[in-house]
Amino acid sequence: MDQPPLSVEPLLTMTGIAKHFGGVMAVQDVDLTLGRGEVVAIVGDNGAGKSTLIKVLTGVHVPDEGVITLEGRQVSITSKRASQALGIEAVYQDLGLVDTLDAAGNVFLGHELKRYILGIPFLRNARMAEEAARVLKENVGIELEDITVPTHNLSGGQRQAVAIARAIYNTDLKILVMDEPTAALGPEETRNTLKLMRRLKDQGISLIVISHNLDHVFAVADRVMVMRGGRVAATLDCKSSTKQDVLAHIIAATDGNVAA
Ligand SMILES: Nc1ncnc2c1ncn2[C@@H]1O[C@H](COP(=O)(O)OP(=O)(O)OP(=O)(O)O)[C@@H](O)[C@H]1O
Ligand SMILES: [Mg+2]
Repeated sequence: MDQPPLSVEPLLTMTGIAKHFGGVMAVQDVDLTLGRGEVVAIVGDNGAGKSTLIKVLTGVHVPDEGVITLEGRQVSITSKRASQALGIEAVYQDLGLVDTLDAAGNVFLGHELKRYILGIPFLRNARMAEEAARVLKENVGIELEDITVPTHNLSGGQRQAVAIARAIYNTDLKILVMDEPTAALGPEETRNTLKLMRRLKDQGISLIVISHNLDHVFAVADRVMVMRGGRVAATLDCKSSTKQDVLAHIIAATDGNVAA
């Protein structure tokens, strides 16, 4: 039988994913597909399995069952490093920045640019600052007033931007996974983060975004997957459904959890 052309392959498929912790089935029989440049939101009650599912993708948890394909090929994601090597990066709430370093120090952490003079390595600090500022501006859409301030002095949104710039700079980023990216941000920063997400999408980067805020979900997502008790309760197209539709599945989910 003829293979379908590659262009119709989803970028990512996760099929039959299961993960348990002791007696807790955190994720069970979950399927997820993601197209190139697509934004899929994952919503659901606390403990529904959202974070566990994406941690399977980012190599934090090895699943008990399931198959993952990327660009049509089955992949084995056994570590964070393996996930990153495939072009998958995650931005969690604790962004993993080194607070005492500035934006460039974080973007280039472990990949510092050096110049050798008489065999002695010197850090190319000016070049790194320039490159970090360029990636922040061109890819992430943020300009820092002072690129040299330690990241602990930046706002939540700016810190998030630095974490994303690092992901873009150090990998051929295909999929960015964001767990509650707007949870700790004020209104202005939230707007910036939503803008940033659209900007990444325009660059052909696919996003998986966990959120409790349906306004944010509908502002950026193409599809929304509702999880309940570790399973997929529904997957809805954002264009042809409403917040009420999604809410109905989440509320049904809550009832399910209470009964369980
Ligand atoms: N490392 C772990 N060890 C043991 N149990 C875990 C672990 N991580 C998650 N769980 C359990 O798995 C289930 C799913 O948790 P998960 O964190 O994936 O939910 P969530 O949908 O992300 O919830 P929230 O909205 O609160 O972040 C919960 O019952 C949780 O207690
Ligand atoms: Mg979570």
